[in-house]
Amino acid sequence: MVTTAVNPYLDRNFAPIRQEITTDKLPVIGELPFELTGMFVRNGPNPQWTPIGQYHWFDGDGMLHGVQISDGVATYRNRYVQTTGWKKEREAGKAIWSGFLEPPQMDNPHGGYKNTANTALIWHAGQMLALNEGGKPHAVKLPELDTIGEYTYNGKLVSAFTAHPKVDPVTGEMIFFGYSFFAPPFLQYSVVSAQGELLRTVPIDLPMGVMMHDFAITENYTIFMDLPLTFNPARAQRGEPVMMFESDRSSRFGIVPRHGDNSNIRWFESPACYVFHTLNAYEEGDEVVLIACRMSSTTVLSFADSQPDPDANIPRLHRWRFNLSTGTVYEEMLDDVASEFPRVNENLLGRQTRYGYSNKMTNSPLPLFEGIIKYDFSSGQSQTHKFGEGRYGGEAVFAPRRGATAEDDGWLMTFVHDESSDTSELVVVNAQDVTAEPVARVIIPQRVPYGFHGAWVAGE
Ligand SMILES: [Fe+2]
Repeated sequence: MVTTAVNPYLDRNFAPIRQEITTDKLPVIGELPFELTGMFVRNGPNPQWTPIGQYHWFDGDGMLHGVQISDGVATYRNRYVQTTGWKKEREAGKAIWSGFLEPPQMDNPHGGYKNTANTALIWHAGQMLALNEGGKPHAVKLPELDTIGEYTYNGKLVSAFTAHPKVDPVTGEMIFFGYSFFAPPFLQYSVVSAQGELLRTVPIDLPMGVMMHDFAITENYTIFMDLPLTFNPARAQRGEPVMMFESDRSSRFGIVPRHGDNSNIRWFESPACYVFHTLNAYEEGDEVVLIACRMSSTTVLSFADSQPDPDANIPRLHRWRFNLSTGTVYEEMLDDVASEFPRVNENLLGRQTRYGYSNKMTNSPLPLFEGIIKYDFSSGQSQTHKFGEGRYGGEAVFAPRRGATAEDDGWLMTFVHDESSDTSELVVVNAQDVTAEPVARVIIPQRVPYGFHGAWVAGE
């Protein structure tokens, strides 16, 4: 049993902070570009109270850290996402829900599950949403980061909501899915109009409940990943974890037209793997191409595996080619360096990009990121921006320069923590010159714990 005293996810810069503050005119080392106007917001787990039982990094209450930038000047705010569960626990003055690593709390009088809204953010149709794949989105006000409340698309939302919806940069549509472990439909697929109206939700058949964290879109298709991290309550009776990676099952990739349904999805099989995050996907001739960080297996959500794997939990950038005319799959590793939280210039999401960005992991059992890797897929080369000794970042988000025409004309932004001084910065790197020093380091007046996903919202 892991005790809270030694749990690494409650220690050092994984530990939560307690203050919610607003500070303007932040000190900057270097210079914030004048063409960079908008707000960078990052979500992550920040448990409000001492957890019940074992704590998993995915359990903490969502806290948003935002840096608003205008005319070269920056303002910082951090706020909890005030979910129903957060409010109940605030009233109680203690934790009410236990997390992933404890048995499901079917008898909890407050409900069996807390939507922490701690994972990611999406800006769509003029609304910022804080996301957790187990529940509904929470609308958040910018730049204040105040929680407005659960967002249900006027009651039309009938499923959970992935932390990784995709906004088509051409049509403005938002494509999302929701999955369920417990009962069919195990997967539901939805499209929201550019104006923010939920247009349609259709069930997609899966043989059983699987953990499906991300997916991908192309101009015409949506790609689902039915990977063998499976959920089976019957395992509990055998003394096994209900969630297990099954190395003897195939990975299945389902390709469905954007406005299609279960009748016209095509499934492609490849060897067992797990993918938390996709970088992008696109169409090329008869092929649908997917780029994502692939692990040969994972124990991230389950400490049991049907076959122990020395490469478990090591994500590496891979490319799959699904041929729609021949039905074949070609899978190749693009880099043997471990990296995660990949992103592209989202003005090209679903289209072939020359560049992609991922984050270089240290050789550590903890998810620590020592730099940003810029991939050039046309040359097969990469360059790495290193944060420096004892400095670790997170997901780097690409912010395009206003009026840019070149794909990589913009900046990469991430919070970096310096372990020796125990301070945090927002680091801004020129995406066309990633090996150079950051153009700006915005000094944050408090520690920003390591977290999950961020978003850049351009404009005033
Ligand atoms: Fe994610």
